[in-house]
Amino acid sequence: MSAKASPLFQGACLPRRHLAIKSFAATIAFVLAGSIGSSVTGAQTAGQNANRSSGSQQEMTPAKNLAKRTSEMPGAVPGAKYVGADTCKTCHDEIYTKHFENTPHFALLQGHAHGCEDCHGPGSAHVDSAGDPTKIVRFSQLSPAQASQRCLECHETNLENVNFSGSVHLRNGVGCLACHSPHHATEPDHLLKNQQTLLCYGCHATQKAEFERPYRHRVNVGLIQCSDCHNPHGTFVDRQLRTAAGQFPICTNCHAETMGPFAFEHVPVRQEGCTACHTPHGSTNPRLLRVSQVNLLCMQCHTPTANSNVPGIPSFHTQNAKYQACTMCHTQIHGSNFDEFFFR
Ligand code: HEC
Ligand code: HEC
Ligand code: HEC
Ligand code: HEC
Ligand code: HEC
Ligand code: HEC
Ligand code: HEC
Ligand code: HEC
Ligand code: HEC
Ligand code: HEC
Repeated sequence: MSAKASPLFQGACLPRRHLAIKSFAATIAFVLAGSIGSSVTGAQTAGQNANRSSGSQQEMTPAKNLAKRTSEMPGAVPGAKYVGADTCKTCHDEIYTKHFENTPHFALLQGHAHGCEDCHGPGSAHVDSAGDPTKIVRFSQLSPAQASQRCLECHETNLENVNFSGSVHLRNGVGCLACHSPHHATEPDHLLKNQQTLLCYGCHATQKAEFERPYRHRVNVGLIQCSDCHNPHGTFVDRQLRTAAGQFPICTNCHAETMGPFAFEHVPVRQEGCTACHTPHGSTNPRLLRVSQVNLLCMQCHTPTANSNVPGIPSFHTQNAKYQACTMCHTQIHGSNFDEFFFR
């Protein structure tokens, strides 16, 4: 089975990439299981590719095939050859020892990969010219899309990144290097340029304000993270949201009890989803409710005029104080196994 046969690929609206790259990436990928350098035969590749359709592991493209593609990068000199990272080190010792050797990309040197040149392209012309900076791929000269393309050659088959090309972020000019830095990451994990929450707030001030409201998911103290609900690399649903197994809202990963299955479901929970009644980030109302008074929330739907599907409230529900606290009686507001009116 080829990568394209995976259901995840079918839903994707991936932009057309360079043809050579596309067919290559679609047919050859190998699982990076700690030993990126181990030589990969065609048969192994095919087998592990099938493996990938079951979504099991992170994969990388085999380094021995990178030559053609890095030499096509903007800034690369046609005909340049690989010289090896040891040669780069002779002049760029600081980058090598302080900003490469101790990063995950050092793994590129195990086996057949080229290290520096896997990202910067073959370096012979650059070296022969005693370091002419125009004769090597410089990320500072690439557009976000071009730079991301370089990264995606190895990382796109990873499920985390599989929809990056179609993500809201890339479409708005936010490429990998807005969040990651291979040489100058400040975070110990994932080569991030800043602690995740601060990184996101750097561009999302509105959300920062939302998480400062009295009732909120405690993202600011690290109890949960933006990336628990969102995938910054894009997803196949709106708002770059993750989904829980079975396409349930991501919320049910942590609040499983709200989703049932129930003998008596409260229809909007499944149909409109959690955000029909809750704000996900923060709210001035307890329980992250969208509306300050619970009865007003319920009456948005349970009014005789609203919608023929939705029953109005019975006439004995006078709007005196006793009946305003709807969830005092209808306590199992997300659904119940015992009672069609959600009393228990
Ligand atoms: C003979 C010494 C020498 C060797 C070998 C060498 N470089 Fe350079 N490199 C330089 C010099 C000099 C510069 C220019 C530095 C500057 O302008 O600040 C440079 C610049 C660069 C730049 C651009 C930096 C920027 O400011 O954007 C990159 C990327 C780079 N080198 C990568 C490499 C890689 C990868 C290798 C190995 C294939 C390599 N270099 C080998 C001397 C060398
Ligand atoms: C995973 C891809 C990748 C690898 C591998 C890599 N680089 Fe870079 N390099 C980058 C990116 C991206 C930048 C832009 C700065 C940044 O985001 O960290 C960069 C920037 C640079 C610069 C510009 C100066 C600077 O500090 O930003 C030099 C010089 C350089 N790299 C040399 C090297 C050398 C030498 C190696 C091998 C020892 C190497 N790179 C390996 C991706 C890579
Ligand atoms: C908007 C910010 C942002 C952008 C853009 C972004 N990332 Fe990430 N990336 C993150 C964050 C945050 C994490 C950590 C996620 C977590 O903890 O679940 C991460 C994690 C990762 C990881 C490790 C996690 C894993 O499960 O594989 C890789 C690899 C990665 N990113 C690569 C990339 C590449 C390649 C690109 C560009 C194609 C990219 N990222 C673009 C924010 C970003
Ligand atoms: C030639 C293949 C290749 C290229 C190109 C490449 N990477 Fe990587 N990347 C790797 C390998 C191999 C690792 C180490 C994987 C591991 O340790 O699981 C890695 C690790 C990472 C990680 C850390 C993952 C984690 O789980 O913490 C991030 C983030 C990342 N790369 C981002 C980038 C970005 C951004 C670019 C583009 C500038 C890039 N990579 C280009 C091969 C590549
Ligand atoms: C508890 C899950 C959750 C967490 C944690 C979370 N989000 Fe969201 N976010 C959502 C949901 C759900 C939506 C969609 C809201 C809607 O459609 O009404 C959303 C929407 C957004 C939007 C789109 C704008 C909007 O209001 O519709 C942005 C931007 C965003 N979130 C950024 C962030 C950032 C940045 C963080 C971390 C600081 C974060 N989110 C943390 C669930 C979450
Ligand atoms: C470099 C700036 C930048 C960073 C950093 C950044 N974003 Fe964004 N983000 C944007 C832009 C620009 C958009 C598209 C415009 C918009 O919706 O605000 C966007 C859109 C989004 C959306 C989708 C909104 C929609 O309408 O679909 C979500 C969700 C989101 N970002 C979450 C995050 C998370 C989580 C992080 C941290 C891991 C993060 N962003 C980091 C700039 C950034
Ligand atoms: C990663 C786990 C996680 C995810 C995903 C998550 N939540 Fe939460 N949620 C929590 C935790 C933990 C608390 C308790 C927060 C606290 O004590 O500060 C909480 C609290 C709440 C509360 C307030 C409960 C109370 O007693 O006041 C509501 C409502 C809520 N979440 C709704 C949602 C919705 C809606 C979503 C999806 C958009 C969601 N949650 C996604 C972990 C999660
Ligand atoms: C029809 C409106 C509605 C929908 C849809 C809804 N909720 Fe609620 N939810 C409420 C109300 C009202 C409360 C407050 C109950 C109370 O005050 O006792 C609540 C309370 C909560 C609480 C606090 C703990 C609890 O059980 O009382 C969590 C957590 C929660 N909801 C999560 C979710 C999640 C996750 C979803 C989606 C699967 C969801 N809600 C969908 C109305 C709704
Ligand atoms: C987003 C719209 C919406 C909101 C808000 C909402 N409901 Fe509902 N509710 C429905 C729908 C739709 C049904 C299913 C009607 C049917 O059986 O076809 C329903 C069913 C019910 C039922 C069961 C009625 C029956 O005859 O089986 C009760 C009780 C109920 N809701 C109470 C509440 C309460 C209390 C609140 C406020 C906490 C509330 N609802 C908020 C849409 C909503
Ligand atoms: C004092 C307890 C109590 C409170 C408070 C309460 N209800 Fe009820 N609710 C009931 C009872 C009892 C029934 C009828 C059950 C039956 O018919 O057997 C009912 C039935 C309903 C029904 C089903 C109507 C139908 O025809 O299917 C809806 C909808 C409903 N309530 C909504 C609400 C809303 C909205 C609020 C808040 C404004 C609320 N309830 C407050 C006790 C209460």
